[in-house]
Amino acid sequence: MKALVTGSNGLLGKDLVVELKKRGWDVTAVDIQELDITDPVAVASIAGGVYGKEGWLFNCAAYTNVDGAETDVDRATLLNSIAPGYLAQACAMVGKRMIQVSTDFVFDGQTSTPYAEDAPTHPLGVYGRTKLEGEEAVFSHQPSAIVIRTAWLYGPLGKCFPKTIVKAWESGKDLKVVDDQQGSPTYTADLVRVMVDLAEKNVDGGIYHTTGPSVCTWHDLAERTIRTWTGKEVRIPAIKTEEWPTPVRRPVFSVLSFDKCRALGIQTMRPLDEALSEFCERLRRAPELFR
Ligand SMILES: NC(=O)c1ccc[n+]([C@@H]2O[C@H](COP(=O)([O-])OP(=O)(O)OC[C@H]3O[C@@H](n4cnc5c(N)ncnc54)[C@H](OP(=O)(O)O)[C@@H]3O)[C@@H](O)[C@H]2O)c1
Repeated sequence: MKALVTGSNGLLGKDLVVELKKRGWDVTAVDIQELDITDPVAVASIAGGVYGKEGWLFNCAAYTNVDGAETDVDRATLLNSIAPGYLAQACAMVGKRMIQVSTDFVFDGQTSTPYAEDAPTHPLGVYGRTKLEGEEAVFSHQPSAIVIRTAWLYGPLGKCFPKTIVKAWESGKDLKVVDDQQGSPTYTADLVRVMVDLAEKNVDGGIYHTTGPSVCTWHDLAERTIRTWTGKEVRIPAIKTEEWPTPVRRPVFSVLSFDKCRALGIQTMRPLDEALSEFCERLRRAPELFR
């Protein structure tokens, strides 16, 4: 099967390309240098058949700086709200199906039960709002597209919270981490397996929630990461959100239900500690990834 991956140099895009190639897909991987998704002329090349006339487009490109989006509204809107629509339109014209990656930030976190795909959305900031608009733009051009909402991504091939924590620990920095926001850490190598499973099963168009199976706080994630990294019990001071102010509020309870995927026979991801072990092992094998 053919895949075009946009944003292929990012945290998720890199692991997605690895997974697709492992499964024998014919992959074209492009990032902003080869295909700027905000450039309608460049995107029209997809409709022109430059990347083949069938298969799937996986869009991993996005404006992902959650706090930066509050002041860089135009860029976030272009990348997250408008460009996914260009891609979906081009896909629809050439007979490709699109998979758009979205986020738990479309919700406000004011709940105590996992969000189903049809739960009412209410983004708290520009990033969440623009990602939600991107979902709508994609479906308006291609109702058979797939939108995958995920959360708390980590992996060795890009910037992420567990890598920042390991780096800080190794450099002897004083750490303190918030313990009043809950979510589901999602290992990129496991998420890409689910993404490709959904494509290979050729599931119906719509929204699919898919995250790791464990629910924890950032503080818990930090301690578990360092425990996995060092093999020792560690204690990191916990703080409250108000002691770590950020330009945009985060959802307090950001857990997505996996039920829809499970009902389709998609296997749940590995438990957090198992996935963290592999993450740490990959970092140990390639210390240059810390740069
Ligand atoms: N990270 C998370 O915790 C998280 C959680 C939930 C959902 N998501 C979603 O998951 C997806 C992947 O996120 P990620 O963490 O892998 O992001 P990432 O590491 O920031 O990767 C995004 C990639 O897109 C590229 N890009 C930026 N502007 C572009 C353009 N105009 N045209 C083409 N490519 C462009 C970036 O290049 P540069 O680096 O050069 O800008 C980067 O290589 C996004 O849709 C994000 O919203 C992420």
